[in-house]
Amino acid sequence: MVNETEFAGKVVVVTGSAGGIGWEILEQFVARGARGVMSDIDEELGRPRAEAMGESVSFCPADVRDEAQVDALVEHCLAEHGRLDIWVNNAGVGVHTLALDTTLEDFAKQVDVQLIGAFLGARAAARQMVAQGGGGRVINIGSSAARNARKGAASHCSAKAGGVMLSKVLALEWGEHGITVNTVSPGLTDSWPTTRYEGPSEEYRRNFLRMVPAGRLGKPAEIAAACVFLATDAAAFITGHELVVDGGYGAGKLSVHADTIME
Ligand SMILES: NC(=O)c1ccc[n+]([C@@H]2O[C@H](COP(=O)([O-])OP(=O)(O)OC[C@H]3O[C@@H](n4cnc5c(N)ncnc54)[C@H](O)[C@@H]3O)[C@@H](O)[C@H]2O)c1
Repeated sequence: MVNETEFAGKVVVVTGSAGGIGWEILEQFVARGARGVMSDIDEELGRPRAEAMGESVSFCPADVRDEAQVDALVEHCLAEHGRLDIWVNNAGVGVHTLALDTTLEDFAKQVDVQLIGAFLGARAAARQMVAQGGGGRVINIGSSAARNARKGAASHCSAKAGGVMLSKVLALEWGEHGITVNTVSPGLTDSWPTTRYEGPSEEYRRNFLRMVPAGRLGKPAEIAAACVFLATDAAAFITGHELVVDGGYGAGKLSVHADTIME
């Protein structure tokens, strides 16, 4: 059963939360009493959804690649909600091309959104948390792609792997301010019904699922639950950690995939 006052008085910002996993993360915090900001580059998709969530949620358009827009997002949060306690770097983009065909522009975009964007967001959030007197939670959404190389995903895997290391460095630096920094890394997750993306092909899903011990896609609610946990008092001593939520995909990635057991 949901504790509707667990995060009462807390304020959360989730980037890239107009749909998909980010929207679910925001929903779960709000369901537990938090106020918060839905932020996304996609205002058309996000603003009506934020308005439908009621007065505890405001919408602020922001491109996480842009330092001034990220700083303005913190200002929006303070103006609307008075403080900032939890920051989730969720914004992401997917470029899936073989390295020989990947343009500099596409590679750089992935790094800009998923690594530099995460840095800009975490830094802006932590500056405010320190100014408030310390304490706070920064959560970066990683991916199973951070630790499992995948053909056609050089920029995505590299950016996500960088994000995991970024979280660890920030955890070292901000521990003295009472700020924890962790990564939640989803496996293939069925976020598409609420995004603009139709999702990967049936063939890709089928092949991917053969490597997932749980035998199914993840649910956005399961990724959000991990984020909520990392923001609870129970997780106060967890920092610099990567919490993998992938149905066991990473655990079995190096095994031989066959229907029979080796004799
Ligand atoms: N769905 C999966 O299978 C899966 C698996 C592993 C990791 N992830 C990660 O989870 C996160 C959410 O993904 P999702 O599946 O919900 O898809 P999604 O495409 O709905 O989420 C990404 C959101 O980020 C926004 N965005 C893109 N560029 C932006 C920018 N420059 N500034 C601000 N917002 C921007 C998009 O508009 C979108 O709303 C991403 O970081 C993604 O890499 C997803």
